[in-house]
Amino acid sequence: MLTVDTTQVKKSIALPYEEAMIPRLKIAHEWLQSGTGAGNDFVGWVNLPRDYDREELSRIHAAAARIRSDSKALVVIGIGGSYLGARGVIECLHSANYNLRRKDTPNIYFIGNSLSSEALHETMELIGDDDFSVNVISKSGTTTEPAVAFRFFRELLEKKYGREGAARRIYATTDKARGALKSMADAEGYETFCVPDDVGGRYSVLTAVGLLPIAVSGVDIDALLAGAGEMMEKCRKADLENPTWQYAAARTQLYKNGKKIELLAAYEPRFRFMAEWWKQLYGESEGKEGKGLFPASADFTADLHSLGQYIQQGERHLFETVVRFAPSEHQCLVPKSDTDGDGLNFLAGRSLDFLNEQAMDATLLAHVEGGVPNIVIRLAENGARAIGATVYFFEYACGLCGYMLSVNPFDQPGVEAYKKNMFALLGKPGYEDMRAELLAKLGR
Ligand code: PA5
Repeated sequence: MLTVDTTQVKKSIALPYEEAMIPRLKIAHEWLQSGTGAGNDFVGWVNLPRDYDREELSRIHAAAARIRSDSKALVVIGIGGSYLGARGVIECLHSANYNLRRKDTPNIYFIGNSLSSEALHETMELIGDDDFSVNVISKSGTTTEPAVAFRFFRELLEKKYGREGAARRIYATTDKARGALKSMADAEGYETFCVPDDVGGRYSVLTAVGLLPIAVSGVDIDALLAGAGEMMEKCRKADLENPTWQYAAARTQLYKNGKKIELLAAYEPRFRFMAEWWKQLYGESEGKEGKGLFPASADFTADLHSLGQYIQQGERHLFETVVRFAPSEHQCLVPKSDTDGDGLNFLAGRSLDFLNEQAMDATLLAHVEGGVPNIVIRLAENGARAIGATVYFFEYACGLCGYMLSVNPFDQPGVEAYKKNMFALLGKPGYEDMRAELLAKLGR
């Protein structure tokens, strides 16, 4: 279903690094499996595909069916781990043009992931007079961006359907007991879904956080979970046959060898938001205590025409992880031209998949030659099952890598700094002294 090819990494590293890393991999693996490492309160995702609350899963199916039947649009309000996974999976399994292409399921708008007036206004405009529902997602229930956006859409719903009617169209995904969103949901009677205590935001795509919007889009979430479950079983193996061990060993060794940036690339534009999800997963899990690979992403071949120059000849501090998809269902064959004005008749009858493959191989050879090692991740199929497996693969490898780096892969203490400053500048009660200090620093 998913294989890791590190041939090109092994060529660039003389020593048998995988074997040398086995002792550290074993410890990290044991910590994840037994829940005995740092941040062990947040390893609920490890067995989630097996232990998923079946009652909640059937409520997710029922809510998705209801939204599909009574709404032309679903507004998904959330930020970071509370939206990236859902958007990644929906776009990857449908298209970045999901809203234009799908006519049988509601349009899905992601909002509350910025403080942009333009984005908010545009979403309201796009919804227009359409019937819509809202899925507000916040584990803490207090994050500013989604909380503010929710005010706007709640008001819109209440104006359109009245308070009770609005309450029937609001689905809140949050902590089972704590937080402002949970209190509001209980008071107003919104249907709620739970973000388990032991699953942090960036590891939550296979909970209701991701599953409800994904199910609304028409993706088979049972297949998604089944694929994740198959990968979970593979990841139980404590040896180098485990694909996450291969990936974790390669990227850890490359980091040790001075590569500071990992560029996740795919030759499929619909992978873009999966890469955004991956960036949060790895950036928040590893980037702490002055350590960690910087996770970046690229869309090839498009970015070969922008970042390509730097990748080939710029500073040699990066490596690439390239996700290769299985062949497309749509065989687009290059047409033959009578005049051959563009000189492309040598490609006539070839599929775009063939061209894409050649571009992948050509780029791999050029970049490796230029000092950019490549890890290749191959998907044997493209459907929900494979993407479920891919999600779990990256999550498990991330946990391993964090432990191998000797950091807690499940906290994010650094995210608080800007939030505190923002609260102070916004005039939140309790932040008065800090506000004066910050304004002085800003020279105001
Ligand atoms: O990974 C994380 O914990 C964060 O990115 C959160 O997902 C993000 O800040 C949103 O938090 P919440 O779901 O509490 O609104």
